[in-house]
Amino acid sequence: MNDWNEGYFTGSTYTYGYYRELSPAYQRFILLANGFSVSAESDESIHCELGFGQGVSINIHAASNPGYFIGTDFNPAHSSHANDLLKSFSSEEPRIRFFDDSFEQMIDRDLPQFDSISLHGIWTWISTENQKRVVEFARKFLKPGGIFYNSYNVFPGWAPKSPLRELLILHDKFSESNFSTKKRVEDAIQFIQNFVATDPVFLKTAPGFKPMLDMISKQSPDYIAHEFLNRDWICMYFTEVLEMLSDAKLDFACTTELIELYDNLNFNQAALSFLNKIENPIMREQVKDYFLNRQFRKDLFVRGARKISQVESMSRLAKIRFVLTTSDEVKPDFQTVLGNIKIAPEVQDAVIQYLKTDNYRPKSIEEIAQATKSKNPLQTLIILTHRGVIAPCQSDESIKKVKKRCDKLNAYICSRAEFNTNIVFLASPVTGGGFHVNKSEMLVLNSIRHGKKNSKDIARDIWQSFVRTGERISKEGKRLETMEENLPLLEDMAKTVIDKKLSIFHALQII
Ligand SMILES: C[S@@+](CC[C@H](N)C(=O)[O-])C[C@H]1O[C@@H](n2cnc3c(N)ncnc32)[C@H](O)[C@@H]1O
Repeated sequence: MNDWNEGYFTGSTYTYGYYRELSPAYQRFILLANGFSVSAESDESIHCELGFGQGVSINIHAASNPGYFIGTDFNPAHSSHANDLLKSFSSEEPRIRFFDDSFEQMIDRDLPQFDSISLHGIWTWISTENQKRVVEFARKFLKPGGIFYNSYNVFPGWAPKSPLRELLILHDKFSESNFSTKKRVEDAIQFIQNFVATDPVFLKTAPGFKPMLDMISKQSPDYIAHEFLNRDWICMYFTEVLEMLSDAKLDFACTTELIELYDNLNFNQAALSFLNKIENPIMREQVKDYFLNRQFRKDLFVRGARKISQVESMSRLAKIRFVLTTSDEVKPDFQTVLGNIKIAPEVQDAVIQYLKTDNYRPKSIEEIAQATKSKNPLQTLIILTHRGVIAPCQSDESIKKVKKRCDKLNAYICSRAEFNTNIVFLASPVTGGGFHVNKSEMLVLNSIRHGKKNSKDIARDIWQSFVRTGERISKEGKRLETMEENLPLLEDMAKTVIDKKLSIFHALQII
């Protein structure tokens, strides 16, 4: 049998996650907020994602961002799923191409120079040889000034927990491998739980072991298999990754965690004065991982990173518009590693109230500053973006260009919700990214697309779909069988979605 999977776990297909850090629009915003020069969004931009999994993120981004998209995942089941999603909105070949090539094969393709190359959840789980291929790919195909996004497990955060991964993989290696993924994972976890129950001396020196075991036991077997059962699992220090990437002339720019723009929100006074004495920025970044006990990094690198002046970045940021992405009450406090933090709650409140006005239309920092009489609402806006309460927007020109294809992709994803809800994100032309939705919301959006306007008609439309699929509402653990029982509850569901979410859906133009 041909060993195309190079030791990568292919016993089951990967989950259907979405990651906003892979969005070219969001990457540009993060870089700008961190004071780096970024090129404007353009029809000519070409973006690449390596190892796109089921292709949810790359499809959402290819639909909602201008430019060309190329990606690969060597698992043909993943690539064919990604291409199915693509067919729903793109008849514009070759604007978008998804391959089932390995990284090695991609290097030999005749490809253009990319504005960005991104990989999420890949680096730690591939061999050193493949890591080198990724670097070679960036060296060969990333433009000067191009963006490189990489996420990976790191020491020191993983140090106490890597023995857990070792036991999982060993148990899997020495037991019957022809069992289903679910059984292999459950057996391995049970084995380690039995081990922990004996209170071994080892646990005293590795206090992170049991909480980590408890946490992973709650994850889906597919996720655990992909995370832990690969032949390769190479956890590194930040500086080691940087060292390898320097072969592609990549400079570290920043993490994608916007909250890290504000050191005082992440480090106490003692840590801050220690960090401030470290002059070398790379050494400083590495020591931060020790203070944060960081396990996972999401980093942006640039092939030749260029800082711009504060005046220039402020003037470019001032033009960026933001849109509210929730109608729920937004608490003034939020969690950082330092605990619960509250910053300028009155500014936050004024910003949120203003973003709700005029049917939630996106508003620029300039407008927000004027309306809220706040001299500098930027910090509030960045923190709200970090918390996922608001999102930066693309230009009107880009929104117009991508609207139709987002509509088509969203219609397809919502129509799938009748049968399965493995994808729970829709594409927003406004943000150039994905927006989380639940099944009720997708069913209601589907009916609205069918031309249904009020909750009664929507409920009847959803009931028709229930008749086709055999689905029913359950109340207090009891499945309700009849139309008379289901309709009032479906109507309540539709009302809730209309009252709570519809303005947000309209503002994000996902309907
Ligand atoms: C953990 S999944 C992450 C998927 C996706 N990036 C996400 O975050 O949802 C890693 C993916 O990389 C793909 N992959 C691993 N090694 C590869 C290789 N050498 N060439 C191409 N794809 C690879 C796998 O098939 C898998 O879909």
